Amino acid sequence: MEAIDAIMKRRSIRKFEKRQIPDAILEKIIKTGTYAPSALALQPWGFVVVQDQVFLNRVSDYCKPILISFMKNAHDGMSDAFRAVLEGKDYSIYYHAPTVIMVIGKTGSRFREIDCSLCAENMMLAAHALGIGSCWIGSTEVAYDNKELMAGFRIPEGYSPVGTIVFGYPAETVDAHDKKAPLLTWIR
Ligand SMILES: Cc1cc2nc3c(=O)[nH]c(=O)nc-3n(C[C@H](O)[C@H](O)[C@H](O)COP(=O)(O)O)c2cc1C
Repeated sequence: MEAIDAIMKRRSIRKFEKRQIPDAILEKIIKTGTYAPSALALQPWGFVVVQDQVFLNRVSDYCKPILISFMKNAHDGMSDAFRAVLEGKDYSIYYHAPTVIMVIGKTGSRFREIDCSLCAENMMLAAHALGIGSCWIGSTEVAYDNKELMAGFRIPEGYSPVGTIVFGYPAETVDAHDKKAPLLTWIR
């Protein structure tokens, strides 16, 4: 797949087949992440691959009521729709994806969030090029202050989470969309 095509046709995927992604493919996706640029070439990232659905459901069940409470005063169309989805009994913030990868960054590394986000985007684009869907799950953040749940992610000493991404074979097709015209200034 051409790079431009992969960039412009990638969409967040939220419905997945149950079959697991082979380890070799996940390793390839992670490797593409490590080819991202990073400040001073520090490569301050690490990865936690979670395939334990019982654990992921526990994290999701903890996050859901907190997310619902965050949204209690938001009543635009998108928020109402998201709240209705969140309140669904079967809803998981991880969309029951077979693999969730937490990208972790070296604590104190100055550009860790930027470096790890570039790494994460490489991974999502590579996944798309390999026929695998993905979606960044910012909702995990509400669990960051839950020590017991965070211990379950087994983050090595000296690292902390930057982002969590779900991966799986897509069980839905989502068309490429038009994006807003960019705010653009030329100086020349
Ligand atoms: C930092 C960040 C956090 C996100 N958190 C969530 C999330 O918790 N749940 C979700 O379903 N999608 C989440 N998304 C996906 C966005 O909703 C999605 O990227 C956006 O709607 C644009 O759609 P596209 O990825 O298909 O282009 C997140 C994306 C980013 C970059």
